[in-house]
Amino acid sequence: MKALVLAGGKGTRLRPLTHTSAKQLVPVANKPVLYYGLEAIREAGITDVGIVVGDTAAEVRAAVGDGSMFGLDVTYIPQEAPLGLAHCVLIAREFLGDEPFVLYLGDNFLVGGIAGLVDTFRRADYDAQILLTRVAEPQFYGVAELGPSGEILRLEEKPEHPRSDLAIVGVYIFSPAVHEAVRAITPSARGELEITDAVTWLIDHGSRVHSHLVDGYWKDTGRLQDMLECNRIVLERIEPGVRGTVDRLSEITGRVVVERGAVVENSILRGPIVIGADTKITSSYIGPFTSIGASCLVENAEIDYSIVLDGSSVHGVSRIAHSLIGRNVEVSRATGMPNTHELMVGDHSRIQVPA
Ligand code: DAU
Repeated sequence: MKALVLAGGKGTRLRPLTHTSAKQLVPVANKPVLYYGLEAIREAGITDVGIVVGDTAAEVRAAVGDGSMFGLDVTYIPQEAPLGLAHCVLIAREFLGDEPFVLYLGDNFLVGGIAGLVDTFRRADYDAQILLTRVAEPQFYGVAELGPSGEILRLEEKPEHPRSDLAIVGVYIFSPAVHEAVRAITPSARGELEITDAVTWLIDHGSRVHSHLVDGYWKDTGRLQDMLECNRIVLERIEPGVRGTVDRLSEITGRVVVERGAVVENSILRGPIVIGADTKITSSYIGPFTSIGASCLVENAEIDYSIVLDGSSVHGVSRIAHSLIGRNVEVSRATGMPNTHELMVGDHSRIQVPA
């Protein structure tokens, strides 16, 4: 079995971090979301992986390389424009050959990996296996309507009036039967060759399409609450380890990762948290479910249930909670009068200050 990972798409939908142009590289617990997908693929015993890349090819190639750091053999497949998920399958025809494959959307995150799902597919005689999960806003996803015995009645891509709350998760498994389907369909109203239409085509042509309900699913929709939750779920399972330096005045409880080169002085770290490489934490409190990136500086501050990305600094501010701080950001306490908030905030940002 092979895997096809989609990491193309436009570099223009830059939410929630305006400077992160590849959405597949948004970090969860200090690690790009794409890495979790690649690790899940390797855990399922798949090593031959094609990655579809677009505008942000350079960034993705820099982050993944030849795949050897994941134990994978990666082939890059350039897509000239984001013409749809089924278009990706179409252009990967030669790479995929006549083997079954996992189609993994690089901006999706699935707790618990895919080994079990790959196993089920291998043992069964399906042409396609799709995953469904219950979501609050199904109109932003592909949506499935199931019959009384769980059979798929209908699939619709981002319907205005969803018939269920069952969203299609961005991890599919296909037999080579899908190649005929992606050749047969035509572009949707949004001008893309939809994988949802290819799956519908398979169902309509008598193929065996199986659906499976999963929990613990996330994709980058740009919502802060979702990102913090996903970060929390990953941190809850993180393997603790102190590879940096923590002085005697500091106190560590719970699952705490302190990466190499990080220095913690006179501080309280209450896990689960991760402190990135070469970050310095001084006289501060870092509370549960917080990820602090690499090369940050936190001084006389308190941070809780938050994500701070690489190269940022927080001085003399307490307490920051439920927050996402981008790269190379400076947050500090204003001194003197008048008592004002001084802000220089990037595009699409959101700030809440005490009344
Ligand atoms: O995330 C799950 C959803 O993914 C499903 O519920 C939908 O049925 C499915 O159509 C898809 O919807 P999106 O509109 O959210 O897909 P998006 O355009 O965000 O692309 C998903 C990934 O594939 C993303 O990492 C970018 C990449 N991509 C996308 C397109 C359209 C490509 O590499 N090439 C493309 O042409």
